[in-house]
Amino acid sequence: MTLLSVDGLEAGYETGQVLFGIDMEISEGETVSLLGRNGAGKTTTIRSIVGAETPRIIDGSITFRGTDLLACPTHEIADLGLGYVPEERRCFPRLTVAENIHVAATSVDDPLPESEMFEFFPELDQIRDRDAKNLSGGQQQMVSIARALVANPELMLLDEPCEGLAPTIVRQVEEGIRRINEERGVTVLMVEQNVAAAMAIADRHYILEEGDLVNEVTTARLREDEDLRQEYLGV
Ligand SMILES: Nc1ncnc2c1ncn2[C@@H]1O[C@H](COP(=O)(O)OP(=O)(O)OP(=O)(O)O)[C@@H](O)[C@H]1O
Ligand SMILES: [Mg+2]
Repeated sequence: MTLLSVDGLEAGYETGQVLFGIDMEISEGETVSLLGRNGAGKTTTIRSIVGAETPRIIDGSITFRGTDLLACPTHEIADLGLGYVPEERRCFPRLTVAENIHVAATSVDDPLPESEMFEFFPELDQIRDRDAKNLSGGQQQMVSIARALVANPELMLLDEPCEGLAPTIVRQVEEGIRRINEERGVTVLMVEQNVAAAMAIADRHYILEEGDLVNEVTTARLREDEDLRQEYLGV
């Protein structure tokens, strides 16, 4: 069953067009990544889906369970079951870890149990009473993901969740996202430049180059095809 469908998406900014016809189809329960180099248009694609203020949509359609997202006011998109973890981590600096999660839970009608967030990210349990402003980047990322998850989304969109994190933290974030998918059945669409992290989490990958989708591969294929990784991703 198709959850998210993006057809012929063209989008851009005042300064010019960035996406030139993106087609993506994501089924319920999948883990998918959108890979591409710096400036390829990954964030622009995600922001188009979640109805962010920018970019401007030029053409195409985006549907979630058949609902036209482009016709949907931004504030209603979260209520449809989309959870968004942006590039810049989103938490309240002066609230504790537990309070941050609590605030996110109380903002929706049907949240997941807050205690479950500490199971997906055990490290958060030890620092639950610490103010978010005093956390490491990795811990803030876990809080940011937990805040999106506690709202009980069907689809989580994560923009470079592993960026700038130490390797041990990257593994905890990977593990957390995988468990969210496996144990909660949440569909995942993540954007990454870190191909290793994308392969650790996602089963299928779209490769974006200069605003065009140039390939679609499974993790197995991407793992064995070094030329492909080199050509499109420079790794
Ligand atoms: N708010 C904006 N206004 C104007 N141009 C923008 C804006 N945001 C992004 N762009 C441009 O759009 C293009 C795609 O940017 P985007 O952020 O989508 O790439 P990305 O694949 O997410 O890159 P990165 O890996 O660096 O995060 C780039 O050329 C960028 O300069
Ligand atoms: Mg980006």
